[in-house]
Amino acid sequence: MYQQVKHLNEKKDEFIAMTTHELKTPVTSLRGFLQLLQMHTDSNDKNALFVERGIKQVDKLSMLINDLVEFSKLQAGNLGMHFEIFDMKVLVEDCLELYAASNSHPIKLHVSGSLEVHADRLRIEQVIDNLVSNAVKYSPEGGVVEIDLEGREHEVMVRVKDEGIGIDDKLMDKLFSQFFRAVEPGYNIPGLGMGLYITRKLLNVMVGALT
Ligand SMILES: Nc1ncnc2c1ncn2[C@@H]1O[C@H](COP(=O)(O)OP(=O)(O)O)[C@@H](O)[C@H]1O
Ligand SMILES: [Mg+2]
Repeated sequence: MYQQVKHLNEKKDEFIAMTTHELKTPVTSLRGFLQLLQMHTDSNDKNALFVERGIKQVDKLSMLINDLVEFSKLQAGNLGMHFEIFDMKVLVEDCLELYAASNSHPIKLHVSGSLEVHADRLRIEQVIDNLVSNAVKYSPEGGVVEIDLEGREHEVMVRVKDEGIGIDDKLMDKLFSQFFRAVEPGYNIPGLGMGLYITRKLLNVMVGALT
């Protein structure tokens, strides 16, 4: 029985890896063509709006595909880790630049203590981005996103708080599982339920590599 489940699970991962690979190329080129179209469309032209919406939708699609790519890498166990020493404040500020232009979701960063860590910078960026993008995505009506970085003796505590739809207490322990989504169907927020699973795995792999 265990062998059967294991085999099916491997098949599932293989399938995801294969389809993801096939999806990535056309979506990237579609975005390129839409951008070209945007350059050749007068911004007063009513079609400009359609092109802009097209790009937004393609970006949503890319976001989903990126989750799949990361998931596949994790499952295949090919995560090259590169450890270095860096300051979490600098890293988080870099991540937040992406959201700086957002009026609907102003971001407040609070820091305290020593924020120097020894970790894989890109992976930590991914972790922070997963948490912040969730905070923004699950606040469809907008609202402040607060990020708190607290340097402790041997760790940095990261807290992300938003004013969005919230999460039912009862579902808390499931949030980090594969494909789990707590969001009610009525909200229509895109996602695959992989981001937090990836987040937890990345942190576990990093801690494992250090100990
Ligand atoms: N900031 C948040 N506010 C409300 N719900 C959240 C938040 N972050 C995560 N969730 C819930 O946890 C689930 C898992 O998150 P995640 O793994 O990032 O998947 P995705 O965002 O692709 O659905 C989400 O589907 C959502 O229901
Ligand atoms: Mg997410």
